[in-house]
Amino acid sequence: MDSMRDNRIIMDELGPDMAKQAAGIHAAGMVRDGMAIGLGTGSTVLFAMQQLSLKVKEGLDITGVPTSFQAAIRARELGIPLTTLDDHPVLDLAIDGADQVDPLFRVIKGRGAAHVREKCVAAAAGRFIIVADPGKIVPVLDAAVPLEVLPFAVTPVLTSLRNLGGDPVLREGQKKDGPVITDNGNMIIDCGFGPIDQPGQLEISLTTIPGVLSCGLFCGFTQKTTVIVGDMTGVRILTR
Ligand code: 5RP
Repeated sequence: MDSMRDNRIIMDELGPDMAKQAAGIHAAGMVRDGMAIGLGTGSTVLFAMQQLSLKVKEGLDITGVPTSFQAAIRARELGIPLTTLDDHPVLDLAIDGADQVDPLFRVIKGRGAAHVREKCVAAAAGRFIIVADPGKIVPVLDAAVPLEVLPFAVTPVLTSLRNLGGDPVLREGQKKDGPVITDNGNMIIDCGFGPIDQPGQLEISLTTIPGVLSCGLFCGFTQKTTVIVGDMTGVRILTR
C-alpha cells in the first residue's frame, strides 16, 4: 500500500513537470535555422526556451519576440536573441502554453496575465504551437476567462460581464496588495461562465466590450494550431 501511495505522490509531483518538459523539448525541435519565433509565457514554454538556448549555443540562428516581461527576462538569461513585432511583423511560428484546449483547438489562456501580447504574437505567426500537459486537454472549455481591462473602465466592464451571465472577479496580486497590474499597465478580470457552448461567439462578445483590450479565449487560430501534449512517456502531436 505504501509503495502504491509513494508512486502516486511521485506521479502527482513529477508528472506535470515531466509532461511539460517533453512537450517543450519537442516544440524546440520544430524550430529551424533562420526562423523568427514567438516566445510564450509560463512554465511549459520555459522547457522549450531552455532547449532552444542549448541549440543557440551550438549555432542555431533564431530571433524571438517575447510575449511578456517574463519571456524577455528568460530569453536574455538563456542567450536567445530578441526582436520585436515592429522588426518582425511576420513570425514563422509561436510556441506558447495554454490553460485549456478543446477538441477543435479553441484555447483559454491568460493565467499569467500575458494573453494580450500572446494573442498579438499568435496572430503574427504562421504556425501556433501549443505545449501542454494532459490536464489541459478538455472536452469543453469551462475555465474562467481572463480579460485585460483598462483601469479606467473596470467597473462598467464588471457590469457588462454580469449582464452577459458571467461571474467576474478582479484578479488580486500575490506578494502585492490590490489588483494585478499587467505588463501593459492594465487590470485583469477573471470571468467564469461555466461550460462555454460557443467560445468563438463569446470571444467576440467579450472583446467588443469598451475597455476590454482582449480576452483569454483564442478561437481564431485553430487552422494553424498544433498541440503538443507531453506525458511521462513522450508526446502526442495533435493537428487538424
Ligand atoms: C500566460 C499563459 C500561459 O501560457 C498559460 O497559463 C499556461 O501556463 P503553464 O504552461 O505555466 O501552465 O497563458 O498568460
